[in-house]
Amino acid sequence: MAKTTVYKNTRSRKQLAKEVGHKCLVSRRNFLIGTGATTVTVMVTLNPGTADAKAVPAQITNYPRKFICKLSELKQDEPLDFNYPDEGEYSDNMVVKLGVKAGGGLGKDQDIVAYNYACTHQGNSLSGSYKAETKSLGACPLHLSTYDLTRHGILISGQAYQSLPQILLEIEGDSVYATGIFGLIFGRENNLHS
Ligand code: FES
Repeated sequence: MAKTTVYKNTRSRKQLAKEVGHKCLVSRRNFLIGTGATTVTVMVTLNPGTADAKAVPAQITNYPRKFICKLSELKQDEPLDFNYPDEGEYSDNMVVKLGVKAGGGLGKDQDIVAYNYACTHQGNSLSGSYKAETKSLGACPLHLSTYDLTRHGILISGQAYQSLPQILLEIEGDSVYATGIFGLIFGRENNLHS
């Protein structure tokens, strides 16, 4: 059986921050953090090369690996829903094959990404709001926040001020796993300590 690379990372926090910093689209290799660390902080530059360029801290938290779907089940622009890191509040997520290369994207086209559905503004669910034409989630029904799924879930428009949490993925053979979260899920004070 063909086996897709599983990424593991044993770098120190300092090394990781140095490697990932100063990029908006973090490379797949640097983005996927495997076992070893619980939480690391990295600096990600939003809107590089523009007047709006800004370095912001981002949290990457590892959780137990969980199978979420078969790679062969994923059809372009057809999100599949799953719960992660548990079955609790705000654990609803989606995985989607975008059809275009994305920050943190997996698969041979680097276009498979997953995101939490809870809007970072006030936690309203973004379920059902995926837009294939813009590769975005939103607009949120409450205050219209919209997030770019090709660029780590950064805000395109609306009231929110934080990116949508991106679910870290691994692909092994025909299996897709969730392994952690890049960013903080709305309403979960224990994000960093689970
Ligand atoms: S809750 Fe989504 S924009 Fe306010």
